[in-house]
Amino acid sequence: MRIHVADHPLVAHKLTTLRDQATASPTFRGLADELVTLLAYEATRDVRVDPVTVRTPVADAAGVRLASPKPLVVPILRAGLGMLDGMMRLLPTAEVGFLGMVRNEQTLQASTYAERLPEDLSGRQCYVLDPMLATGGTLAAAVRFLVDRGADDITAICLLTAPEGCARLEKALEGLGVPVTVVTAAMDERLDEKGYIVPGLGDAGDRLYGVVG
Ligand code: URA
Repeated sequence: MRIHVADHPLVAHKLTTLRDQATASPTFRGLADELVTLLAYEATRDVRVDPVTVRTPVADAAGVRLASPKPLVVPILRAGLGMLDGMMRLLPTAEVGFLGMVRNEQTLQASTYAERLPEDLSGRQCYVLDPMLATGGTLAAAVRFLVDRGADDITAICLLTAPEGCARLEKALEGLGVPVTVVTAAMDERLDEKGYIVPGLGDAGDRLYGVVG
C-alpha cells in the first residue's frame, strides 16, 4: 500500500479552515469540494490512458485519451458524498457507484448497508472517496468489496488519515495482490478513545450535513 500526503500550501490552507470548529456547513462543503479537486489531481496521476492522434489546424499531434473501461468513482455514504463533485470535476466521464457503510460507534466495526455498483469490475480502476481514514475498518471493507468484484487498481482519497488506521489498513490488505494507494491532505497524530482523528476535524458527515439524531 502506498500513502501519498499532498504537500501543497493550498491544500494546507483549505484543510486548516476545514478543521476550524467555527467553520459552518456551507463553507465546509465548499472547501471540502475544492480540497478534493486538488487531491484528485494527485490521485489520478496513474489514471489509464490510451495513445491517440488528433489533427490540429497545423499538423497531427500525438496525445492520450482516458482508457476504457472508464474509471469508477465510489463515494462511501454518507460523508463521501461531500467529495463526489470535487472528484467528478476532474473526471467527468467516470462512472459512479455507491457504497453505504456505517461504523458501529461501540465496536468500531464497519458494515455495508447499501450498494449500487456494477457486478463486474474486472480491469477497472476505482477511486474510493472516504473523508476520514480513522480506524481503517471502513476502507478495508470497501477495498475488499471492490476487489471481490474484480477491481484491479484502487486509489482512496481521504481528507485526513491517522497512523493507526493506515497501519491497520495495510495489514488488512496483506496478500491482496491489487495495488492500493491512499492520497490524503494530512497524516494526523493519532486516534482518541472514541476512534476520532486527533486533531482531526470532528465528524465529517456532521460537519458536511448536520447531526443525524
Ligand atoms: N469519522 C469522522 O467523521 N471523524 C473522525 O475523526 C473519525 C471517523
